[in-house]
Amino acid sequence: MSISFERDGDIVILAANNPPVNALGAEVRRGLSEGIKRAVAEGAKAVLIYGEGRTWFAGADIREFGKPPVEPGLPGVCDEIEACPIPVVAALHGTVLGGGLEVAVSCHYRLALPSTKLGVPEVNLGLLPGAGGTQRLPRLAGYETAVAMVTSGRPVSAAKALEAGIVDRVEDGKPRALGLAYATELVAEGAKPRPVGARPAPQAPDFAAMRAEVVKKARGQLAPVTAFDAVAASASLPFAEGLKEERRLFMSLMDTDQRKGMIHAFFAERQVSKLPELKGVAPRALNSIGVIGGGTMGAGIATAALLAGLRVSLIEMTEEAAEAARGRVAGNLAGALKRGKISQQKHDAMLGTALTTAADYAALSDADVIIEAVFEDMAVKKQVFAQIEAHAKPSAILASNTSYLDINEIAANTTRPADVIGLHFFSPAHVMRLLEVVVADATAPDVVATGFELGKMLGKTTVRSGVCDGFIGNRILSTYRTAADHMILDGASPYEIDRVLENFGFAMGPFAVADLAGLDIGWANRKRLAPNRHPRERVSEHADKLCEAGHFGQKTGRGYYIYEGRSKSINPDVMPLIEAERAALGITPKTFSDDDILRRYMAAMVNEAAKVVGEGIARRPLDVDMVLLMGYGFPRYHGGPLKWADIQGLGNLLADIEGFAKEDDHFWQPAPLLQELVASNRSFDDLNT
Ligand code: 3HC
Ligand code: NAI
Repeated sequence: MSISFERDGDIVILAANNPPVNALGAEVRRGLSEGIKRAVAEGAKAVLIYGEGRTWFAGADIREFGKPPVEPGLPGVCDEIEACPIPVVAALHGTVLGGGLEVAVSCHYRLALPSTKLGVPEVNLGLLPGAGGTQRLPRLAGYETAVAMVTSGRPVSAAKALEAGIVDRVEDGKPRALGLAYATELVAEGAKPRPVGARPAPQAPDFAAMRAEVVKKARGQLAPVTAFDAVAASASLPFAEGLKEERRLFMSLMDTDQRKGMIHAFFAERQVSKLPELKGVAPRALNSIGVIGGGTMGAGIATAALLAGLRVSLIEMTEEAAEAARGRVAGNLAGALKRGKISQQKHDAMLGTALTTAADYAALSDADVIIEAVFEDMAVKKQVFAQIEAHAKPSAILASNTSYLDINEIAANTTRPADVIGLHFFSPAHVMRLLEVVVADATAPDVVATGFELGKMLGKTTVRSGVCDGFIGNRILSTYRTAADHMILDGASPYEIDRVLENFGFAMGPFAVADLAGLDIGWANRKRLAPNRHPRERVSEHADKLCEAGHFGQKTGRGYYIYEGRSKSINPDVMPLIEAERAALGITPKTFSDDDILRRYMAAMVNEAAKVVGEGIARRPLDVDMVLLMGYGFPRYHGGPLKWADIQGLGNLLADIEGFAKEDDHFWQPAPLLQELVASNRSFDDLNT
């Protein structure tokens, strides 16, 4: 039984038992509805609802969305609880989220354990609270709190919920015992039901200003704005009408592509680290790591590991460089301390006993995983791996954080290729949530499992990649950047391209991103690839010219844009460089509409992603989606490039690619997998299961 019915004297106890998170699936809803009816019919004096296991209801059952509805619906169940003629008490613990919080605020009295988190995260799924939350929350907590919770999706602590009036008391103990004591007390006092829906809505604030703020923050996402509108409706409509308006707005979001994209992202995030090949494979022991190179990446990786409670040995070329690397880690940890992520005591322990910095590789002797993050140069990496091998213990894993280089070649140069793996972090490594685990031909399964275990310890979304130039993410990035560079040669400007992609939902367009990452990185990469470049590859040189003049983007204050303090403006030197290049190549520039730009950019991304999946570099389309979402700023509400492609229709995308191929059939070679899917009328999603 998902909801058990039990009696303790005058009190009926409804306990939820639907692991793992007590999601409000059809059976749970039925159990609640029947339980309330039966409690009244049997003459009970109060009802207690609590959750068994790790949490109260963590929300509606997301797996039901998009399928035909099954009665009773959650809004009806919430109304039934609220209308119950005897007091209903909620004893809350764990994560009281979405429909879970809506059930809670339909009860008449609420207590919560101090560790409880309460929130309405529906906007993160492209939805709004659809079971009365937008009407009941403002009546309990006022508009400021309700709008903040509903439009951001961020949960609040039990203490904050108490202060806001969302819960009546916060007490430590077991939900069942505390709830029973509370219900007994209420019965003794002769307490009556207190339906939140019967309360008047608070005084309406300046909704216009609040809405403008929500629109700005939403950056193209529909749900926060629609959720705001639902909350605001509570000020002007009677409660029952407000519920109807909420339902109408909820259903309008249910139909959107954004809802599909975000729910895909929710499940993909949970599926991505589950690899059938690792079932039953135990990871190796993991207590300490070694990092070689304490530059941008090495210092970030060391910080992430320290924050996760690991011991770290950080090796640099000289004592002075080791000291400078310690300074970078200290700077990162000072940031974590300032933001309240760690206590002063933990901070001091991390810099004191947990971190060793040295110029001698002997400091690596105890490390379980050793990650090199030295210069991106194969000869240097090989030399470093030889030194690591001389000092690493036999069980240690030898990893490279290379962005593009061949892990098979690095592994083949060692005497223990089974221990070699790629662990590709993203900058800043202690902040960015993506980790690509690059599995080389000879990598042992327990080494792969340890890579995933490390990702989990560091709180990363960990994705398996095979070996190729740039792995999943940087390989796809190179291709869509090339498509952008081709458009520039043919007539578009970097600024138009950035604007179109920002309107699509990226926080930054590709040229602003290039300035942030450092134009020298792409420059070095182009030089590396030049000797093997296909004669038909179109290469644009304006970026090289910027680099030759010493402009590397943000770090030098000048790139595609000029950076002065916090302001960013267009660099007037860029377009003349591009125009000169077009003239030298005899290209007559043409006009690209916003739609032209988006279609070419996305077609290049999807086509390369389909090749990455088709070649087995990524095992599933969802792996690509997670890489782009977590590492490259792809807007979550589009679900990732391959989910977006499914929603557009793969036939349309293939037709675009075939059309572009008429101009350049070297660059625009359709991915065989995309052709196969179109021919068999299947989607990328069909390959995810
Ligand atoms: N519906 C269905 N399945 C759910 C679920 C839900 N609401 N919430 C979690 N699950 C599943 C996960 O997919 C996962 O399944 P798996 O083991 O097969 O991969 C399992 O439960 C455990 O979830 P997590 O791995 O995420 O466990 P954590 O302990 O890390 O996190 C959590 C727990 C904080 C509850 C997190 O799962 C979460 O944020 N869940 C979603 C909460 C949410 O968005 N609720 C609102 C739903 S929409 C709604 O209520 C609409 C209403 O207004 C009408
Ligand atoms: P960086 O130049 O900031 O740091 C490299 C550090 O390695 C320097 O401090 C240098 O002194 C040290 N070093 C060089 N040779 C060494 C040796 N033999 N022994 C010990 N230390 C040595 O470079 P960054 O940006 O940190 O990149 C490092 C690696 O990470 C490269 O392979 C790069 O491709 C990769 N990477 C970089 C990302 C980025 O955004 N910067 C993102 C992901 C990967």
